[in-house]
Amino acid sequence: MDKEKIILDSDPGEDDAVAILLAVGSPNIDLLGISTVGGNQSIDKVTYNARAVLKQAGREDIPVYQGADRPILRPLQSGAYVHGETGLNGTVVPEPTVPIGDKHGVNWIVETIMSHEPKTITLVPTGPLTNIALALRMEPAIAERVKRVVLMGGGVFEANKTAAAEFNIATDPEAARIVFEAPWDVTMVGLDVTHKALCKPDIQKEIEETCGKTGAFMSGLMDGFRAAYQANQDFVDPPVHDPCTVAYIIDESVLTTRRCNVEVVTQDGPALGETVADMRGPENPDSHTQVALKLDYDKFWAIVKDALLNVEKALA
Ligand code: BDR
Ligand code: CA
Repeated sequence: MDKEKIILDSDPGEDDAVAILLAVGSPNIDLLGISTVGGNQSIDKVTYNARAVLKQAGREDIPVYQGADRPILRPLQSGAYVHGETGLNGTVVPEPTVPIGDKHGVNWIVETIMSHEPKTITLVPTGPLTNIALALRMEPAIAERVKRVVLMGGGVFEANKTAAAEFNIATDPEAARIVFEAPWDVTMVGLDVTHKALCKPDIQKEIEETCGKTGAFMSGLMDGFRAAYQANQDFVDPPVHDPCTVAYIIDESVLTTRRCNVEVVTQDGPALGETVADMRGPENPDSHTQVALKLDYDKFWAIVKDALLNVEKALA
């Protein structure tokens, strides 16, 4: 089976960091590179974190391109309240040695998609959708050119940043609207499933005990994430949002999805950033968007553990 080529567009963030490890460790995925976007922390911090995670994984050959530092219309309200001052809640990361890519992240996304065969690249955004929206405006043809978009964001029945909206969508609602309205295939991996991807102590211990240095790194990330989620989100265990996207690409049966239209609210007010999914039956097979509704918990963690083991083996 051919590996699926992906572009990760991300704002690491503990859970983005695990998504990177998953992409690097899966034999089914060819990670072409990472573009970064201001979100969980400032652009300089998340770009540093992306490079540091690749260094930790022994994969500094994978390029990192810095993208937009703020949402299209709004000031950046970062996710520091969950991810702390560094974006990784103080987890010790190795200092990256490979410089940041020498072009803007949005240019890199457009050039990469346009220079590959049509329908061979999957876009995996795990932060605010600013870069992806700008790429669509710069080169609308990318919409027919990519294979699909599998993004973490939104929620059908759940929210976190506000009563109505999830963090990535709430941070740049205008960008999200552009991305959901474009004529490409979008899978919305939202809070309905990611809030079920909890890193419970037993799985964290198992990973720590079996996956060597990579497991210890993941466990350190989870300690910081757990503390933040306990302190201000009323969670006992942290929900590991972003890797759900990569896990779905590795094995689609990990999520149950439903095709339906999704609209993003961009009017200021209490519903700003809400992803309004039309769940009225019957399912609309022609919709270009689908939403994830259920997670296979055991399968998800088996996928994560396998990938972390592969990262560890490659390091040895
Ligand atoms: C999303 O927001 C960030 O805090 C996480 O990295 C994830 O992408 C969850 O709402
Ligand atoms: Ca993220």
